[in-house]
Amino acid sequence: MITHENGVFLLQNPAISLLLRVSPRGLLEQLHFGGSVTLADARAMTSLVGPGWGCGILLEESDSESCPDVRPLAWSGSGRGDYRESPLELAGQSTDLRYAGFRIFDGIAPMESGLPQATGPAETLEIIMEQEGLGLKLYFTLFDTAITRRCVLENTGNSSVTIQKIMSMVMDLPGNYEMTTFDGGWIAEMRKHTLPVQDSRVVNESVTGFSSNRHNPGFLLSEIGATEDAGRVYGFNLVYTGNHYGAAQRSLQGLTRVVQGISPSNFAWELQPGGRFETPEAVMTWSDEGFGGMSRNMHTFVNQHIVPEYWRYHLRPVLYNDWEGCMFDFNQRILLNLAKKAKDLGCELFVLDDGWFGQRNDDKAGLGDYSVNKKKLPSGLKGLADRIRAMGMEFGLWFEPESVNMDSDLYRKHPDWALTDEFAPIQGRHQLLLDLTKPEVRDYIVENVSSILDTAGITYVKWDMNRHSVALGAKAHDYILGLYDVLGRIFKPRPQVLLESCSSGGNRFDLGMLCFGPQIWCSDDTDPIERLTIQGSLSYLYPQSTFGAHVSAAPHAQTLRTTPLTTRGNVSFFGCLGYELDLNHLLPVEEKEIQAQTALYKQYRRCFQFGTFYRLENGWQVTDGDITMACIFSGCRPAAPGYDYLRLKGLKKGKTYHFRSRPQTLRLGQFGSLVKHVAPVNLNPNGIILRTADKHLTLPDGEHTGTATGGALAAGIPMLPAFRGSGYDKQQRTQLDFGSSLYIIEG
Ligand code: GLA
Repeated sequence: MITHENGVFLLQNPAISLLLRVSPRGLLEQLHFGGSVTLADARAMTSLVGPGWGCGILLEESDSESCPDVRPLAWSGSGRGDYRESPLELAGQSTDLRYAGFRIFDGIAPMESGLPQATGPAETLEIIMEQEGLGLKLYFTLFDTAITRRCVLENTGNSSVTIQKIMSMVMDLPGNYEMTTFDGGWIAEMRKHTLPVQDSRVVNESVTGFSSNRHNPGFLLSEIGATEDAGRVYGFNLVYTGNHYGAAQRSLQGLTRVVQGISPSNFAWELQPGGRFETPEAVMTWSDEGFGGMSRNMHTFVNQHIVPEYWRYHLRPVLYNDWEGCMFDFNQRILLNLAKKAKDLGCELFVLDDGWFGQRNDDKAGLGDYSVNKKKLPSGLKGLADRIRAMGMEFGLWFEPESVNMDSDLYRKHPDWALTDEFAPIQGRHQLLLDLTKPEVRDYIVENVSSILDTAGITYVKWDMNRHSVALGAKAHDYILGLYDVLGRIFKPRPQVLLESCSSGGNRFDLGMLCFGPQIWCSDDTDPIERLTIQGSLSYLYPQSTFGAHVSAAPHAQTLRTTPLTTRGNVSFFGCLGYELDLNHLLPVEEKEIQAQTALYKQYRRCFQFGTFYRLENGWQVTDGDITMACIFSGCRPAAPGYDYLRLKGLKKGKTYHFRSRPQTLRLGQFGSLVKHVAPVNLNPNGIILRTADKHLTLPDGEHTGTATGGALAAGIPMLPAFRGSGYDKQQRTQLDFGSSLYIIEG
């Protein structure tokens, strides 16, 4: 509900509230953002605002409360006495926008520039601010677990102005905070870092042209001492795929100024008289149930308001992707053989990745050309897709439409379509970006991708983009608008096509891309131990339904680490499950394990993909009604291990639950000469008997069932003892390094 009383605006629902006040000088102040308050509370809170002092500038000499530098503000100017970070900078001129009116209405304020935004049930407050020659509309939209903010600046004067910086939101929060950001690079995305916010500015920014794997646009502010389950935590994110900027800095008065928007680096936007500039939408949430509560708010918001309507709570298929198994080296026979195997293992969608078009036999040629490679696929895409559908699987395809190899027919024909500047072109992964600011380039992509989707009956697209930008400069925002135009024209008319975006893995894991496709390939690093970090960090801001999570081969291509197949499955279960390895190399025991994994995942798919997510001390939990799935990950096994506990969250204290561990198996071969620990006979570890047995025979491991109250499960029940050099017992966890135990708990 949004209410207004004497220049005070309250956005409030049971989860969250935001309190704004128009000051006597027409500044927009933010008196509260956080837990739910009522209008009666708000009346008392407005009187807490105090005067400025010292050498501060007063907007009105006779009004000691008119010092903008010390007010808790929800918008501010530049060059007019507020020396904290400004949300708006125009070349060569100050800004001093003051309150001029408001509107409250149901729903959202639709974007006019083509930027994506949150949709669904909501209520919006529009605040109108003005100064001579400029108009500003600030939009505050109240959703059930988050509030979004954006603004539109209009040139109401007679001469053009240049915007050098415009933020989507600015706010001042009382208190001391730490800022958590998620940083990294290719195959090492989402490393979590936390810094105290003090009097110098802490910045989270991307300047690669895209939201980037260097710094995810989402960040957190937590009060000192906040934990996973308690304490006040704010979450911020941006519905945008381009360069972003977020910053926090504490003032002498103990207010923390927070801003978020498009990165001002290299940004310059000329606004002609009558012209308007729309910022992307910033998302803000809050919880006093620690990081976990904040994440659950963000998850609900993304599942309900960000991903395309068709895919909201729509179950995702188990897929097989041929990339890590084949790379560029395949033909129709190889693919059909893999598809048959994938189907037998329980996959529902076959995805043909890179290499199906033009001269694309490695990553040096062919990008930009859409003609199918008939040498590899003599019956064309439709012929292949029809055969795969006849097996009972859907067919999906990889595209990288924004890029071009210089060795391609497209580049030879239209070298001017590539983004260049005054220097010689410089490549990333042997490719250039196409200039999506040009309408003819966008039309080429839309026509080609659309016609392939329609003629081959494709129901899934992996939309890749494998380089950082250069030569974009001030065009960066225009490029992103061009990208959104292309995505909208292809996918809005085809809502049932499942779009998974990708950018060398997680180089564009952002809410902008999620508005067009409901899932994103988290990382080219599918090593499950790395994925605990990557998916674990993503879980702070994004729900598990948005994670493309695949089981791949071990030793792993990026780390050379060998991990149990069970753990590879268990980690991928907490996302949209897929398999990405050469299925010809699987042993019979591994095929059985994968069949069991896909069967279990399908049975509990709703819970895995859309259940309420909890980060546990040593694992992850999802709960959907009476069903809970929890996985405990063990890492490197110590000698003489201590006790481990299954300690769950969110269950009903007095209720009785039945729990069981998912049957796990041990392969004999992994014990080498220690096989005597687990088998009654002493076998030669390198002999034919053990090698043959290893392909077909397994031993049950860690079988644990029982009944417990929600209270006991919250306090923690002891897990089975771990292997401690004491021989085999199926009621022990004889796990190797990086083992894991998945529990199914039913009320
Ligand atoms: C990128 C993607 C991979 C794969 C390759 C194909 O690296 O992240 O998943 O699609 O491109 O070239």
